[in-house]
This record gives sequence, C-alpha cells and structure tokens, in this order.
Amino acid sequence: MMEGADMDDLREKFVSLIAAATDAAALEELRVQAVGKKGEISLRMRELGKMGPEERQVMGPKLNALKDEITSALAAKKAALEDAALDARLQAEWLDVTLPARDRRAGTIHPVSQVWEEATAIFADMGFAVAEGPQIDSDWYNFDALNIPGHHPARAEMDTFYMARAAGDNRPPHVLRTHTSPVQIRAMEAQGAPIRIIAPGRVYRADYDQTHTPMFHQVEGLAIDRDISMANLKWVLEEFFSAFFGTAVKTRFRASHFPFTEPSAEVDIQCSWEGGTVKVGEGDAWLEVLGSGMVHPKVLQAGGIDPDQWQGFAFGMGIDRIAMLKYGIPDLRAFFESDLRWLRHYGFSALQVPTIRGG
Ligand code: PHE
Repeated sequence: MMEGADMDDLREKFVSLIAAATDAAALEELRVQAVGKKGEISLRMRELGKMGPEERQVMGPKLNALKDEITSALAAKKAALEDAALDARLQAEWLDVTLPARDRRAGTIHPVSQVWEEATAIFADMGFAVAEGPQIDSDWYNFDALNIPGHHPARAEMDTFYMARAAGDNRPPHVLRTHTSPVQIRAMEAQGAPIRIIAPGRVYRADYDQTHTPMFHQVEGLAIDRDISMANLKWVLEEFFSAFFGTAVKTRFRASHFPFTEPSAEVDIQCSWEGGTVKVGEGDAWLEVLGSGMVHPKVLQAGGIDPDQWQGFAFGMGIDRIAMLKYGIPDLRAFFESDLRWLRHYGFSALQVPTIRGG
C-alpha cells in the first residue's frame, strides 16, 4: 500500500538528483530511473490496478501529477544545461570584431601595363584612337602588305617565328607578328582615310639577351590625311615624350631605312649618363627609341588607300624600352620572369593614374 509520504520522498529524491545532475547523460539516467518503463514512478503507476476504486481515485491524479512534475523538472534542467553549455562556448569563442584585419598584400600593376596605359592616355589626348590586330598574322599582313616581299632581307633580319602548316600544305605559314605595323594595314582596310590610330600590343622575335626577349611590346602610330608631313610627326613625338617623361625632351631624327616608310627616320631622345644611370630630357647624349617615317605609297595601296590623295606618317616604339628608361629598370628579361620581389619593387599601385599632358 502506498502512502502520501512515500510520494513526497520520491519527489524530493528525484528533484534533488535532477538539480545535482551536471550533464545530459546523468539526466537521461535519472529519466530512466524515474519515468522509464521500469522506473520507480512507472512501477507505482502500475500498482494502481491493484488498488480499490476509492484509493485509485485519490492516488491516480497524485501519481500523474508527480510524473508531470518530474518530467518537466527533467526538461527544465536539460534546457538549463544546454544554456550553460552555450554560454561557455560563447565565452570561449569570443571574438573581437573591431580588431584590424590581417595585412593582405595587394598585387601591383606591371610596368608594361602602366606604361601601356600612360602612352594610350597621352596619345588619346592628341586625338589618336586605339586599334588592334591579331598576334598570329598572315605573312601578307606582317610582310608583303608592308612592302617586304618574300626575298627581302628584312624577313631574315626579323628572326621571325613561323607557325606550322599541315604536311603537304604549301601555302606560306602564318607568323607571330614581328612588329605592330600589320595593324596599319588592318586599320586602313577597316576605316579608310583619314586615320589617327595607335596600336599597342605584343610582338615576337627569336632573340634573347639583356635588351631582347622573344616577346616584347610595341606601340604603333599611324596618322593619314591630305597634308600630313614629317613636321607633324616630329611635333607629335616631342609632345608625347615631354608628357611621358614629365619634362621637355628634345628628339633627333636620323635618316634610316624601312621598306614601309619613305623617307624613314630613327628617332633618338635627349639624355645624359651620370654614374651609369640614364636621365632623359637633359645632357647631350642620345638614345634610340623608335623607327618612323612617311607611309610608303605601296603600303597605302595595299591598305586600299589612294596614295595620290592621301599621305601620312607612321612610327613604331618599344613600350618595354621606354618603361626601362622612365622607371630606371636595367634588365628587360626581368620584365617577364614573374619574380614577386621584382614585381613588388617595380610594380605600381592600382590607384596610380597615368601621366596625362598638363596633369
Ligand atoms: N615596325 C618597325 C620595327 O618594328 C618600326 C616602324 C614602324 C618603323 C612604323 C617605321 C614606321 O622596327
């Protein structure tokens, strides 16, 4: 026979055991002990069947209430333990989001890209648009259209890279363009006269030493109109070099020969040598920086422009060359070695703006 006092003992026992439990496993053990299939409260409930109806009416609700009380005490303790665990984690994994972030090095702009942009900005100021052509071109665009026929020694001089043809295909092979001059022809074909374009881009020659790499960069210039002369060429180039080097730069035109210009001139810029370093825009030494001339009538013809109506100048300048001069970089080969130390030293911040005339 079960007494009220017995129930109070049970309640007290489980309430205090639950309060003392320190983890989920201990709590689960207590649940089985109290209200599991063979738990102490469950066994008591089974005994209800043996009671008389009156006694059962009194004990039934009491036992149910006890079972509910213990069940909710278990649930409350479980929630409390989980809260405590979460609190402990939040304490342990606390993070100060106001701390400054770890320093991450930004990449730099390669000197070739920088100078490419600078040259483009300066020529754009003078009314030149940017034109492009393929790096793999036909020998017609790279040579024939530029008045360099098949037997011409200039072909051999240029150390050309030839593409392969399938066996039995006897057409002349395509080439990696040896200069940006084929873009002259493409611009003439695409837009006719008048023309004012520059064509910056990669060019290729089989050559390798301190001042030559098999791939390098040129910027071509082409201006065609009814009355363009060498005087315009000289003005444009002096204007360009002064803006580019940020100081007045004198040029010297030396008579030269290119098959695609007549007359032709190689252009030097004024410089000085002091203790092995070169300074542009002062002194009485000269440095060769480009080839130029008046576009040959045969070249205008190849581009579909009537040489009796139109004339113009063209020039081709080494981008890497003027980058070395402006930024004091001694060895061309380092440009293309992807050495991070070199890139960090000579590279430019992305925020650096190109030198623009008057700016
Ligand atoms: N294409 C010539 C070179 O690569 C340069 C040049 C361009 C000369 C245009 C005259 C006119 O050497």
